[in-house]
Amino acid sequence: MPIPYLGSKRKSAGLIYQTIKNLNPNTSLLVDLFCGGFAVGEYFLKQGWRVIANDKNKYVITLLKKIIFEGLDEKVKNEFVTREKFYDVINNPQKYEDWYVGYIQCIWSFGNTQKNYLYGKEVEEYKKAGHELVVFLNPASLTNLFPNFSFYFQKILKLNSVNKRRIALGKVMKKFNKNFLTRLPHIEQIERLQHLERLDYFYITEKIKKINIKSFVEFYDKDYKEVEIPKEAVVYCDPPYEGRAEYAEDNFNHKEFWDYVRELSKTNKVYVSEYKAPADFKIVLKFKQNSSLLGGQNNNQPDECLFTYGKP
Ligand SMILES: C[S@@+](CC[C@H](N)C(=O)[O-])C[C@H]1O[C@@H](n2cnc3c(N)ncnc32)[C@H](O)[C@@H]1O
Repeated sequence: MPIPYLGSKRKSAGLIYQTIKNLNPNTSLLVDLFCGGFAVGEYFLKQGWRVIANDKNKYVITLLKKIIFEGLDEKVKNEFVTREKFYDVINNPQKYEDWYVGYIQCIWSFGNTQKNYLYGKEVEEYKKAGHELVVFLNPASLTNLFPNFSFYFQKILKLNSVNKRRIALGKVMKKFNKNFLTRLPHIEQIERLQHLERLDYFYITEKIKKINIKSFVEFYDKDYKEVEIPKEAVVYCDPPYEGRAEYAEDNFNHKEFWDYVRELSKTNKVYVSEYKAPADFKIVLKFKQNSSLLGGQNNNQPDECLFTYGKP
């Protein structure tokens, strides 16, 4: 699964893949020019394509490289990041390694906006106590907060994985209407990253085998215009939506982008995810989407489209 990311295409990656694959049956190289959390690139990779992934956010790119090529240290995955630490990282990124900044931005921010801390002040203490029980098998803080539930906490301690303990804690809290502690979203998000760590084992859907992942994927943190595009590649673009997104790389020049796509389309097939495009672009796919940028599922959301220039 991809990195949790603002505007992630996790839910539509399959549709995007099928459409591009049908239109380009003989191609197996994708350039994901605005890859973000790598939802689309990862999907293509798992179907056996080679992928060149780029995003101007150097923090998310170094995080992707770290997770996919090396794996994250247990110490990092087990750390409960406090509000104080979160803002220190966000405000002083130069003090930390780039991948760690990306990790904090994506996993520990509210709504994956990369700006505000994941938990409200009133629940942070509870989430931390839950983390200590689930990750460190330490029930002390949670028992202090809920002395009457001690029996249940002891039962949870007997379960043999973080995942099982997290789910069991959620059930206990639900039973007693402590809704603020039915979920530990940071642990769920970290569990998702573990799928990316194992990409070199199960990227080919029919057969599980270990491959040299470095020969299948390359990462760059350039401005999209500076990425070298091989002649045989299909290019997928998911730029910041006009007038909606809030990425650190904003001030995106949309007119320049569409001109770039027109030019690149002379040599390569290029597909763009957007709600609207200039009149000389054609729609090759239209679907209802469920973007975190627009507040989740909502029937009033405009259709998301995949556009191309010239022949599909
Ligand atoms: C809609 S998001 C991409 C989401 C991605 N497809 C996913 O599924 O996670 C747009 C991305 O464009 C990146 N971006 C913005 N300006 C850029 C530029 N000039 N060159 C390359 N990437 C840029 C942002 O950092 C952001 O990650």
